[in-house]
Amino acid sequence: MKTEGKENYIPALGFDFLTPLYDTVVKWTTREKVFKTKLVEQIDIPSSGRLLDLACGTATLTVALKRRFPHAETHGLDGDARILRIARRKAAASGAEINFSEALSTTMPYPAEYFDAIVTSLFFHHLTPANKRRTLEEVFRVLKAGGTLHLADWGKAANVLMKAASQPIIWLDGATTKDSLQGRLPELVAEAGLIEIDETASFGTFFGTIRLHKARKPL
Ligand SMILES: C[S@@+](CC[C@H](N)C(=O)[O-])C[C@H]1O[C@@H](n2cnc3c(N)ncnc32)[C@H](O)[C@@H]1O
Repeated sequence: MKTEGKENYIPALGFDFLTPLYDTVVKWTTREKVFKTKLVEQIDIPSSGRLLDLACGTATLTVALKRRFPHAETHGLDGDARILRIARRKAAASGAEINFSEALSTTMPYPAEYFDAIVTSLFFHHLTPANKRRTLEEVFRVLKAGGTLHLADWGKAANVLMKAASQPIIWLDGATTKDSLQGRLPELVAEAGLIEIDETASFGTFFGTIRLHKARKPL
């Protein structure tokens, strides 16, 4: 596993030893199928376009993207070699041809203006405020003009119950969750230069409110 630049790195469930449990925990606690289906449905790209699942984890969403856009060149990036081994196994088992890269979101290994859409789920709360900004600068760089960002993450709690439910996420993933739970992601997306930022859906879950957003790189 690459270590350079990984000082603030938070693995999928907060601790490396929990990674093998990731799929089971997410499936039963986040209404995963419902919110990831909605995220995939909001994407509109040319049939042979290029797609990136940023911080793809075990690639549940990446495989769903490839099913929806079978002719698209589909990429999955994650900084954790261990979780990428699970992702590669899952993609092979489903027959999905996906290009995986082990890299950090702050220095992505793609040329400028490469992707028609970037999708990312349950990831931004893993990043410090500075790394959220750097990652969004990279998103802006590798998106084509007119390309879109589709972001699902823990967001501002919809009510007191959801606020209480989000405490385990704060405990597992630490201080980096703060600006996500304060609802500051749209503001950071705008600071990076993206426009037409809309919240497209929100879901109450066992661990708080998941919010979906869509944004566009200007032409
Ligand atoms: C909670 S998991 C989400 C995985 C997947 N997107 C999903 O929806 O199930 C967060 C992922 O972010 C990855 N990650 C954390 N920091 C990263 C960084 N700076 N660059 C790339 N990946 C990172 C972790 O390895 C982990 O796989």
